[in-house]
Amino acid sequence: MQKFIAGNWKMNGQLPDIASVKAIAAAAQNYPSVDTALCLPATLIAPAASALPDYPIGAQDCHSAVSGAHTGCISAVMLKEAGASLSIVGHSERRAAQHESDAEVRAKALAAKSAGLSVIVCVGETEAERDANMAVAVVLRQLDHSLPDEAASDWLSVAYEPVWAIGTGRIPSAGDVEQIHGAIRADLEARFGADGAKIRILYGGSMNGDNAASLLAIPNVDGGLIGGASLSADKFMPIVAAAAAV
Ligand code: PGA
Repeated sequence: MQKFIAGNWKMNGQLPDIASVKAIAAAAQNYPSVDTALCLPATLIAPAASALPDYPIGAQDCHSAVSGAHTGCISAVMLKEAGASLSIVGHSERRAAQHESDAEVRAKALAAKSAGLSVIVCVGETEAERDANMAVAVVLRQLDHSLPDEAASDWLSVAYEPVWAIGTGRIPSAGDVEQIHGAIRADLEARFGADGAKIRILYGGSMNGDNAASLLAIPNVDGGLIGGASLSADKFMPIVAAAAAV
């Protein structure tokens, strides 16, 4: 399975930072065995996509409706029109700060798919849930309720992002990553049959150039969702290089 390294810029970046998008897109051409993409703030999608029409530019969220009275929200159709080819949905920062439920995440994933976007659905336990030995159960519950029945490997990836590892510099042990990714894989295969074996499962949470090689070597880790280390080519490309070398 071809590895997929996606960047999530979160609420970072203004027009001058398109230079970093260009640098990453250019460097990524040296690694044709790895799929990469950058999920940018909504304001940068159109300028990045018009500067780089052949590079996958993504969004970080979308609304589940096509249009309507939803002040401040952006629909998947609008993101597609702006030049996005994928969207993250269900990131833990939105599940926590915007109180997004699994059902909403599922509706967003379907809306994005209907608009012709690829989708990364995020799941992951909090530190309290891990400490209570509930990590696997929480992740599988999120997965079961956040993925639509129509899920398929040609448009969907799953990102396992333990909340306590995001932006903290802490990562789970290799054994813990293997356990959760294995549980996600078994769940995907049980629900989607042979195609469930092909859905890429990304790891996210403090992945960087130093730890990427060991994380990406763990069974069923098919790529990474990268926050802080996706903001510059200097930090992002060593992760892509590690993915190419696995
Ligand atoms: P991080 O963020 O790499 O900065 O930990 C990952 C994410 O939230 O997707």
